[in-house]
Amino acid sequence: MKKLVTSSHDILPYETRHADLVRALAPECMVLLKNDGTLPLREPCRLALYGGGARRTVKGGTGSGDVNVRRFVNVEEGLEAAGFEITTKRWLDAYDAVVSDAKERFFGELRQEAKALGVNPLIYGMGRMAPDPEYDFPLDGEGDTAVYVLSRISGEGADRTAAAGDIALTAGEVRDILALREKYRRFVLVLNTGGMVDLTPVRDVGTVLSMGQLGSASGDALADVLLGRAYPSGKLTMTWAPLDAYPSTAGFGDPDDTDYREGVYVGYRYFDTANVPVAVPFGFGLGYSFFDLGEPTAELTGTQVRVTVPVSNAGGFKGREVVQVYVSAPEGRIPKPMQELRGFAKTPELAPGESCEVKITFDAVSMASFDPSRTCWVLEEGDYILRVGTSSRDTRIAGILRLSGEAVTRRVRSIVEKPGFEDMVLPARKLTPAERAQADAAPVIELAPEFIPCREVRPSGRPEELPLGERRAWVDVMEGRATAEEFAAGLTDPELAKLCAGDYRESDDILEIIGNASSTVAGAAGETSGKLRSLGLPTAVMADGPAGLRLSREYKNVDGRLRGSTPLQGDNLLLYDPEERATMLAAGGDDGLPEYYQHCTAMPIGTCVAQSWNEELAEKLGDMMGEEMELFGVHIWLAPALNIQRSPLCGRDFEYYSEDPLVSGVTAAAVTRGVQAHSGRYTTIKHFACNNQETNRYFSNSRLSERALREIYLRGFEECLRRSAPGFVMSSYNLLNGEHTCTSPRLLTGFLRDECCFGGVVMTDWLVTGGMGRRGSKWPCASAAGNVKAGNDITMPGMPGDIADMMEALGDDGHPYHITRADLGRCAVRVLRALRAINLVDGDMA
Ligand code: BGC
Repeated sequence: MKKLVTSSHDILPYETRHADLVRALAPECMVLLKNDGTLPLREPCRLALYGGGARRTVKGGTGSGDVNVRRFVNVEEGLEAAGFEITTKRWLDAYDAVVSDAKERFFGELRQEAKALGVNPLIYGMGRMAPDPEYDFPLDGEGDTAVYVLSRISGEGADRTAAAGDIALTAGEVRDILALREKYRRFVLVLNTGGMVDLTPVRDVGTVLSMGQLGSASGDALADVLLGRAYPSGKLTMTWAPLDAYPSTAGFGDPDDTDYREGVYVGYRYFDTANVPVAVPFGFGLGYSFFDLGEPTAELTGTQVRVTVPVSNAGGFKGREVVQVYVSAPEGRIPKPMQELRGFAKTPELAPGESCEVKITFDAVSMASFDPSRTCWVLEEGDYILRVGTSSRDTRIAGILRLSGEAVTRRVRSIVEKPGFEDMVLPARKLTPAERAQADAAPVIELAPEFIPCREVRPSGRPEELPLGERRAWVDVMEGRATAEEFAAGLTDPELAKLCAGDYRESDDILEIIGNASSTVAGAAGETSGKLRSLGLPTAVMADGPAGLRLSREYKNVDGRLRGSTPLQGDNLLLYDPEERATMLAAGGDDGLPEYYQHCTAMPIGTCVAQSWNEELAEKLGDMMGEEMELFGVHIWLAPALNIQRSPLCGRDFEYYSEDPLVSGVTAAAVTRGVQAHSGRYTTIKHFACNNQETNRYFSNSRLSERALREIYLRGFEECLRRSAPGFVMSSYNLLNGEHTCTSPRLLTGFLRDECCFGGVVMTDWLVTGGMGRRGSKWPCASAAGNVKAGNDITMPGMPGDIADMMEALGDDGHPYHITRADLGRCAVRVLRALRAINLVDGDMA
């Protein structure tokens, strides 16, 4: 039973504990890009603080990933609390004022446009950002030390752009940063961004710290790092390069069809193979110390490769290093990236002069490539070169695994049709003379192909019939007198269909449905079906992620309906007329009803969590989420999100972990383990799959080869499923080679269930069956019957039309997604099993 908090004044012990945890972990998520000796500052001082993120610090992005916290510590507050005297209050006030005006104007115009078009302003304005206004205030802060906090925000519904104020710096930012660098003896550029910015015009700045977006304790954590009370130990999980250099930039964001022509050459796989200069390599990050990597050794047991690397702290400050193992596979019939990350490990904290040994283990089978011509995974004959280092551009050859013949490691069934183009092919990169010398001196380990096992995947057949059986009550299942199958057998076809859709709130107001569809937890995104309450069947509550629990901060119970504040926070409010705002905020204001509070903790955004390269850290944050889920009565967290960061232009990259599937999968698995350590709480890995742009997100078609799909875009999900057992998977909005992912049997049943052995529940992303209208899109909406047929168990958030669609498709041979009672039963049983595992009985909810 969740507890109700009725006072907004008292800070509860868990809030302080969780903010402290975020503060303690956040430094590991920050990436020190450059340091000319300015950092750490060591003592608080008179500080000239500038930049858009100084006071208006961004704690995370917008949209469903935004967490409605009671408060969070911005940079100005954090630095002041740490003892800095801020000498630029006038600059900060002036900046604040111009931004407020600019936002009022920008969102006011959107409000008018929405009105003229007769559409909901919240939907119309989703993902839109007010451009940074022009300003030129004197840079007259006193002291000899300056910090400039550059910030960017993005979120669902819109992609980033190359323009100034987004990927590029504005003229004003460049002007001020360069002037500050000249004016102050010590100058630090801090990046409060969720992803890449192009720092070319300010490349001469000597100290650059990417603090990222760190949630509740952002400012405190930054102060700790600036002062050397903590040290940064994060490393980039995406390559930063000029936008035009990414092969994904051309053609990015087409509303209808986006061709992933670069194939497997995503991120460093491209830059390192094509030998293109980058701004900051994948895996790079400095600390306050530096580390020596000793002579690595490699050994093989069965197919497990173990690399051991001595690491010593050779600098004057404590710190942690991340050791990365890349493998260059041999040139063969299948073109291969120059190298791919196969394992990594972070040292414990090492004091100056202290050493340790890190051990990195991976399965040689993970080095296989997908051969589309034979639909199998194959290790081609030849030398697999092991490289050990501290970024993709700083490695040395540590050994060679020599495979004396080809080994097929897995035979599978095809998942997608051909995309209609051939993937880009890059010539293999030759070893440099220095690498050749290292390779010649490196130990060679023989790998015998005959001893590499080959897995065959057995496709599941048609679902078993579900004859109509005896009517059972849910309590029979909970008390062991009936199975989920027996309970399902007692349900009529319409009842089964109801279980295969979420619990829609019957409301004409889209605000009630978008990210706020739950009727038992205010501001939660949805629930499983509540239509079988007569049989005692309870509902399970789902809430976003991924940077915390997204709930209404405050709410009232008005005649059984929870009236929460979720859509009315931050810039969203500006999408309403001032009078409207006042009415909405005061809704039920003086009605004497008690107000309830849900104070959630914002954790660092996905990218920052991954940048720690620390599974233990990710697990601790997951554990914190699990605790808040228990507190607020949420059973299913709609996170982690682990789409591949294919392009820095994707508006939701900040929610995602990496351009690399191994980093993505390992991080998602650790978060999952943390959450699911709490009995009856589950994660939902999303958005499955290839949701790599926001433009026209409900109807954009990602076109790619099966090889790129498997080696890059599904691989992270597969890694996560191998290392943890998330209870739920959310299919994505987009289509994949012309078919909605949510209605793809080959993806959801063939790959996810048969190949990856996923036994949990699949749900759709919200309103994919048409709740938002088609707005002239080339592609059709998805169908709820199609979802069922594909093995997608719950259509979310669940609209009356979804159930009608299922009922029409039932028994109608002519329906494009003809389904049977057995199809419905298969999905319904999985939902029931999940509810059983969550261990809910009716009346459990507050
Ligand atoms: C987002 C999902 C989110 C869902 C529920 C969708 O618009 O794409 O990531 O979990 O809404 O809020």
